[in-house]
Amino acid sequence: MDWGMRNRLAQIIQPDGHCFFMPIDHGYFQGPTSCLERPGETIKPLLPYADALFVTRGVLRSAVDPVKSKPVILRVSGGTSMVGEDLANEGLTTSIEEILRLNVSAVGMSVFIGTKYERETLLNLAKLVNECERYGIPVMAVTAVGRELEKRDARYLALCCRIAAELGARVVKTYWCEDFDKVTNGCPVPVVMAGGPRCDTELEVMEFVYDGMQKGAIGINLGRNVWQNKYPVAVMKALHSIIHKKATAKEAHEVFIEEKNKIMKK
Ligand code: 5RP
Repeated sequence: MDWGMRNRLAQIIQPDGHCFFMPIDHGYFQGPTSCLERPGETIKPLLPYADALFVTRGVLRSAVDPVKSKPVILRVSGGTSMVGEDLANEGLTTSIEEILRLNVSAVGMSVFIGTKYERETLLNLAKLVNECERYGIPVMAVTAVGRELEKRDARYLALCCRIAAELGARVVKTYWCEDFDKVTNGCPVPVVMAGGPRCDTELEVMEFVYDGMQKGAIGINLGRNVWQNKYPVAVMKALHSIIHKKATAKEAHEVFIEEKNKIMKK
């Protein structure tokens, strides 16, 4: 692997081999998502605990301080919306010149496997990899399910992750599911877990993250379960303890309660 590629991967994946990405890209198809209306305000207290931000160029330029920024994974796919015909019909939105101009550590785009747009989104991934590898920029593939959240099972996600890796993604982001080791075992590149819609309890979040880490994930890219929580800093600290301090789900939950109580006393 060339120096530039290794260096960029090291910016987003920590020396312990793990990572905690903070996604704030939801607006690219959802509009002003709850708690992300002002992304700059949302991320301010959370940034110290994140290893990288997953963000579009619009929010990056308008809401992220270029001087004090964390490493950036730039979302470079889009073109659809919640109110449009089909969320799967995404294209590439950002040129390689723009990717270089923004000096990002990596780029990310969605593939929609098993949909009408499977071929197009997979060929978009291949095209992006061709462009980005030339400049040593890692591509993170996002195995998207659109509105079909029930698709999140090991057989389907393993298929998606493997295909994304075969096409050249350096990292794959997918959903946690039961038997998550079937997903990681079949994927030759690092796998990161997304969060999905909010879980009922914080303990549930800690449990699935811990389980996924035990079963081979290298980290998380968790948004709504963090910044839509009433105590987002407490959730960040708790998750950070699983990702980088080897805490169990129960220990992480104790961190959450402790931090929450501290905030409530203020
Ligand atoms: C949105 C994304 C998000 O980055 C991803 O889904 C993670 O966020 P969340 O934890 O809220 O699901 O790719 O398109």
